[in-house]
Amino acid sequence: MRIDIITVVPELLDSPLNESILKRAREKGLVEIVIHNLRDYTDDKRRTVDDYPFGGEAGMVMKIEPVYRCIEHLKSERHYDEIIFTSPDGIRYDQHEANRLSTLENIIILCGHYKGIDFRIREHLITREISIGDYVLTGGELAAAIITDSVVRLLPGAIGDEESALTDCFQDDLLAPPIYTRPADFNGWKVPEVLTSGNFAEIEKWQEEQSYERTRALRPDLLER
Ligand code: ADE
Repeated sequence: MRIDIITVVPELLDSPLNESILKRAREKGLVEIVIHNLRDYTDDKRRTVDDYPFGGEAGMVMKIEPVYRCIEHLKSERHYDEIIFTSPDGIRYDQHEANRLSTLENIIILCGHYKGIDFRIREHLITREISIGDYVLTGGELAAAIITDSVVRLLPGAIGDEESALTDCFQDDLLAPPIYTRPADFNGWKVPEVLTSGNFAEIEKWQEEQSYERTRALRPDLLER
């Protein structure tokens, strides 16, 4: 898989995409992540990527030209399955969308910035608008990092135990059951007995019940889907 990220603050993406599981996935060649500085696609000395909005509102707007140039340049090199724009007014990101994106070959993520982006980019170039939640970030870079992280860990071979991505929270629209490790008794705080019983059918049944109970108590909206 290849993920191209277009940003005006490339530094913000350095660390999140270069450590731990993502670092290893890149080293193993499971994913190629390429960061593009939008300013490299400007043609003025000051490398301007924003301008005042028509209509006189406060705030600056991301200009069309550099974004258009960058996306057209990428599209001339390969086909992209999705061109994503990160924005608080996009569709709400969730595990279903992460699963879907992880099956694609090439995607672009354009990070929003400033007050917003010239709407014509959204109308003519973007194929998917994604919000990571109902709150506003200073820019789309952290959202792009979150999307990338959640997608890359699903790629076969990215996490050691293949099965563990399948038992993640949200994979069945259920929260994960509680998990524990040794010691089985810490100052009287005991691990549920069933987990140390060795009876795997009982353990599985307990985990399913816990998943369901936790979801019902904490996220009943998931059960309504
Ligand atoms: N940019 C600013 N806020 C955002 C959000 N909630 N999701 C995605 N991109 C954003």
